[in-house]
Amino acid sequence: MKSELRLGIAGLGTVGAKVAQLIERKAELLAERVGRSIRITAISARDRSRGRGFDADGMAWFDDPVELAEKGEIDAFVELIGGADGVARQAVEAALSRGIPVVTANKALLAHHGVALARLAAENDTEILFEAAVAGGIPAIKTMREALSANEVSRVYGILNGTCNYILTRMEKEGISFDACLKDAQALGYAEADPTFDIGGFDAAHKLAILTSLAFGTEISLESIFIEGISKITIADIVAAAELGYRIKLLAVALNTDSGIEQRVHPAMIPARSSLAQVDGVTNAVAIDSDLLGSILLAGPGAGGAATASAVLSDIMDVAGGFVPPTLGLPPSRLQPYHRARMRAHEGGYYIRLAVFDRVGAFASIASRMAENGISLESIVQRKADRRAGEGTAPVILVTHDTTEAAIRAALEGLSRDGHLSGEPQMIRIEDLD
Ligand SMILES: NC(=O)c1ccc[n+]([C@@H]2O[C@H](COP(=O)([O-])OP(=O)(O)OC[C@H]3O[C@@H](n4cnc5c(N)ncnc54)[C@H](OP(=O)(O)O)[C@@H]3O)[C@@H](O)[C@H]2O)c1
Repeated sequence: MKSELRLGIAGLGTVGAKVAQLIERKAELLAERVGRSIRITAISARDRSRGRGFDADGMAWFDDPVELAEKGEIDAFVELIGGADGVARQAVEAALSRGIPVVTANKALLAHHGVALARLAAENDTEILFEAAVAGGIPAIKTMREALSANEVSRVYGILNGTCNYILTRMEKEGISFDACLKDAQALGYAEADPTFDIGGFDAAHKLAILTSLAFGTEISLESIFIEGISKITIADIVAAAELGYRIKLLAVALNTDSGIEQRVHPAMIPARSSLAQVDGVTNAVAIDSDLLGSILLAGPGAGGAATASAVLSDIMDVAGGFVPPTLGLPPSRLQPYHRARMRAHEGGYYIRLAVFDRVGAFASIASRMAENGISLESIVQRKADRRAGEGTAPVILVTHDTTEAAIRAALEGLSRDGHLSGEPQMIRIEDLD
């Protein structure tokens, strides 16, 4: 048997403590599978006095994770602190500078600094592994980087945020408002006290940025992602979606188009019969369309201590077994510069819900604004006007044939100017899926 792999783990919270517990509990099985024992020799967290559910005897304690990375007697460094900058980044840089491979679950770090870190790793003849950074326990990174390595990917998309999917699922199944669902998600620990990062779509965007780089062999470009969260989705939209044969999901999509790569995160109506539409609750899913394999869908737990630790451990075992592929699938010098497709050029169908004053001229305005922007309608449904408080408004729901984002935005701006709407129009993109 080869000499043991000595690990330094920085961050012993939900994921880090679970990884350490599992290394203790499954020591024999892991050693048998990789032909080498794996031992934690150094650890770091903020509070030394807290019990973490594993025996830390014989492990060197570091108050400072950067010092652990710089000086610890380790063969691999596991970063499970989190955050794009600060000590997590410094510690990862310190380990790479020593030529020590890094395993991390930190999507923010990779989405912001992945290319620079991949370069630093390559310069020091080592790599970063980050299976847990995208969709928790789902093996999306390995699938993309290894199993699909002979394929050309045309689209990668999925449900990458469990909090949003939980909220949208409950809104749909129980008819509860967005605000009430969010409160429940917070009480159950699915959503943070400040939920902006999740419900605003930013968490999903971090994961998408990483997937996009692997899918298309490009540099990571988080800032190019069009991001729209789920807070404006109402029960009226969910009911209308069901009537039209759709379900609403927060979708993250990266698409290779003639004018560049389109990356977007937004609520989308997807066909109710599609496989992705069956992904409910906190479950995540990653779908990949490629030339040889066609379409595949991976679904499973996108968060949680054990599921995320499963992905971290698989990376640790790869390091132990000497299987360490290039960080972003290619040597950093061969990553293509990112070429961005403008969101205004996005093509697809759209759902539009308008609150229209019940008066002469409203329908003519809708028809002419659509026509002047070259938008053809698949359906238009007007509900009965509500006249209880003075002048009534009637909900009008439009579904368009494929058109462009630029045309839709121009039409909605025109409609708002015409003065027949009692509020902001609601617009939800329709995604064409099998
Ligand atoms: N939780 C999940 O389900 C999940 C899923 C996928 C990916 N991830 C990623 O995994 C990483 C860890 O997440 P988590 O949920 O395990 O976070 P967490 O429970 O908040 O744990 C963070 C750990 O980092 C330690 N820490 C924070 N600042 C530190 C500092 N300055 N010096 C030393 N230690 C410090 C904390 O120490 P104390 O314990 O002493 O406070 C804690 O042990 C993040 O990058 C996250 O995005 C998490």
